[in-house]
Amino acid sequence: MSDVFDKCRNWKDYRIAKATGLYPYFRAIEASHGATEVEIEGKRVIMVGSNNYLGLSADPRVKEAAIKATEKFGTTSSGSRLLNGTLALHEELEARLAKFLNRESAIVISTGFQTNLALASILGRHDIVFSDRQNHASLVDGIRLSFATERKFRHNDMDHLEQLLSQADPDAGKIIVTDGVFSMEGDICNLPRIVELAKHYNARVMTDDAHAMGVLGTRGRGTSEYFDLEKETDLVMGTFSKSFASLGGVLAGPFEVINYIRHKARSVIFSASMTPGSIAAALKALEIIEAEPERRARLLDIAEKMHNGFRAMGFDTGVSVTPVVPVHIGDQVKCFRFWRALHEAGVFANPVIPPAVEPGHALIRTSYMATHTDAQLDRVLDTFETIGRKLGVIPETRPSVYEPVQIARPGTRILSNRASEKWAAGSNGLLADKGGITLDQLSRMSSREVAGRLFDAVEQLTWRAANLQPEDLRKLGNAPMKLWEKRGELPGLLLEKGAHFFMRNGAHSDRN
Ligand SMILES: Cc1ncc(COP(=O)(O)O)c(C=O)c1O
Repeated sequence: MSDVFDKCRNWKDYRIAKATGLYPYFRAIEASHGATEVEIEGKRVIMVGSNNYLGLSADPRVKEAAIKATEKFGTTSSGSRLLNGTLALHEELEARLAKFLNRESAIVISTGFQTNLALASILGRHDIVFSDRQNHASLVDGIRLSFATERKFRHNDMDHLEQLLSQADPDAGKIIVTDGVFSMEGDICNLPRIVELAKHYNARVMTDDAHAMGVLGTRGRGTSEYFDLEKETDLVMGTFSKSFASLGGVLAGPFEVINYIRHKARSVIFSASMTPGSIAAALKALEIIEAEPERRARLLDIAEKMHNGFRAMGFDTGVSVTPVVPVHIGDQVKCFRFWRALHEAGVFANPVIPPAVEPGHALIRTSYMATHTDAQLDRVLDTFETIGRKLGVIPETRPSVYEPVQIARPGTRILSNRASEKWAAGSNGLLADKGGITLDQLSRMSSREVAGRLFDAVEQLTWRAANLQPEDLRKLGNAPMKLWEKRGELPGLLLEKGAHFFMRNGAHSDRN
């Protein structure tokens, strides 16, 4: 007879990770020194694993606001917004956020996670939600809690989104839901194309701006401000646990929709409201975000320094163009070893493994605060270089050239970084304008390098295969027969494809 607890008793990963000293989670912070450095097990480490983008959690003005509100209203509201849990402070924050975000109305909810769960309240049985495969877990759960049909599109793949939209019942209610800035990889959703498709197929649009609010756009209003598409983005979600230095979330949009959510969402009406201290901290943070744009500018300068610092050493920071700077490692075990070496050397960063990223794409996620000093950042870079060389993630000597990353500053309107080797390999023709390499150059490469390039290609293809939709898989099922029929053409075709592959990827011969 089986016991529901069996799976817990038989779960080995935890025990293995602990026994090998490669367990990276639930590290207790004992003290904080201005948020950029913390103490763990009595040791001071530089924090590059927090989403405190503007460094406001340590700002004396924010702390004082939280203390004063706690003194005035107590430690908790002791109830749901619907009944006894609404304070004048909640209403003030909602009014201020609606104005800041340029929307008719806003509701604040106790956590960002619950804010996304509230989405379920407006999704009915006949609605269809189009959701990016890499959307945050809270959006995934919000959709799952609803009765709507979910159609997942491949990450930022607008052709796939269009395909799904075109196949959908034209009479069904539709909404496209996407992270603004993707939390693990730091790239930005293709909002301009999403908005175009939404108009064409009569769908609504919602962005989760957890990592974009306070960071992107001239005034820090997030992805839709960055792309100048605020009117076209129906709902915008944000969390206070990142740039707003607090805890809670916001959903802003048309009055009637927000009012409906206010009365119907189970994560609102069956949960206690944001505490007085949290609201006051978020209110003060909002005031600072509006008054001190120089913090955003410094944060983006830091992002640029770190991306390019890592790249100059030979690291791959992937598709990111934001202060979320992933350092790609690939292998999961190596990623954990890298994390442990960082920890021992006094740097706090987060290992990210599947399912948070695609298999074979384990990475160390670093993220920055406007309040980091250059000395701290240089120490982080030096530490990464030493460990990267030791573990064979980067070459012994720095590459002679590297592609710098263009950061998503106001007005740049970029989505992701085209410089990434691994990702560019999957994008047809992306590097064609960069010259590529000739077959002659290819023949002069060492066999190790050719093998490395092939390995990358296989890894890329595997990643793509893992991302296939069921209908694509069905198509793949017919492939062997088609291949058999075309067997005579294969040698020529392979040669041509191989040549194209190397032409596209040859621009990155800087690791020679
Ligand atoms: C993209 C995204 N959405 C929502 C959330 C949930 O926010 P919170 O941590 O405030 O509950 C997070 C938090 O990690 C996030 O990264």
